[in-house]
Amino acid sequence: MKPIAVLVYGALGRMGKEVIAAVCRDPELKIVGAVDLKADQGMLPLPDGSAEVPLYADVSSMLKSWHPQVLVDFTVAEASMIAARVAAKQGVNLVIGTSGLSDDNLKEIDQLCKANNVGAVVAPNFTIGAAVLLNAVKAAAKFFDFAEIIEMHHHEKVDAPSGTALATAKAMRQSRGKPFSYQKTKKETISGTRGGEFDGIAIHSVRLPGFVASQEVVFGGIGQTLSVRHDTIGRECYLPGVILAIKEVVKRQGLIYGLNTLLSLGEQ
Ligand SMILES: NC(=O)c1ccc[n+]([C@@H]2O[C@H](COP(=O)([O-])OP(=O)(O)OC[C@H]3O[C@@H](n4cnc5c(N)ncnc54)[C@H](O)[C@@H]3O)[C@@H](O)[C@H]2O)c1
Repeated sequence: MKPIAVLVYGALGRMGKEVIAAVCRDPELKIVGAVDLKADQGMLPLPDGSAEVPLYADVSSMLKSWHPQVLVDFTVAEASMIAARVAAKQGVNLVIGTSGLSDDNLKEIDQLCKANNVGAVVAPNFTIGAAVLLNAVKAAAKFFDFAEIIEMHHHEKVDAPSGTALATAKAMRQSRGKPFSYQKTKKETISGTRGGEFDGIAIHSVRLPGFVASQEVVFGGIGQTLSVRHDTIGRECYLPGVILAIKEVVKRQGLIYGLNTLLSLGEQ
């Protein structure tokens, strides 16, 4: 069978480089091009030394000249939407890992994909552990009235809370069918000490060198607590999920949100 032709968007970033290396290792996939705002050369040598692929700064020009089956995007949210609009209209499937897409962005991606008979997998977290954690906390959310999320990331992360923490809170709230109970602290000596709040779930963002990405969800009930924690130690943890998404998205139409559906864990 012909390998699936993949374009990596954000190719010179931390995730983009990992994705290129992982795609090169998989005989069912083939890199056909790379796009990054920082591109200053015409060709990008592949990390396995097998070939060079065209490297552009502008995604529209790349999509006009080359015809990938899948665009894998690890950039910034505004750049994602620009690429999604152009790519879907040209029949290119989307795998989007970029954080910060709004609900309106997701709706638009779904509509674009359905109108153009292509698929999209958008996942705020491509790790298998995070997908399993989500399943577990959705179950717990039905039985515990109180819950807080502590997410821990490297100190250079630009946003807070993490996309994963917000998606986790939304999924817990949806599974529960009503907001969580939240006990306001009468005297907060340092403002913000109790964290941000989403529908009764306090979210605490830790930013320290040494962390890659960790998340702990703590539920509280009378006389008991339940903690579910996931730690990622290196960026390679995302790659099996990204590779799975590339192979599955070409068989689908419309938006699949999160890895859970692809892992048969139910909808996210
Ligand atoms: N879904 C997941 O599992 C997952 C995992 C890790 C990171 N992320 C997210 O992926 C994104 C990228 O993360 P990173 O650590 O690789 O960041 P990074 O800053 O290392 O890389 C981003 C790259 O995108 C490029 N870029 C930005 N705007 C562009 C544009 N308009 N056109 C072309 N290229 C553009 C930058 O030049 C940069 O090289 C972030 O949003 C991050 O939160 C998601």
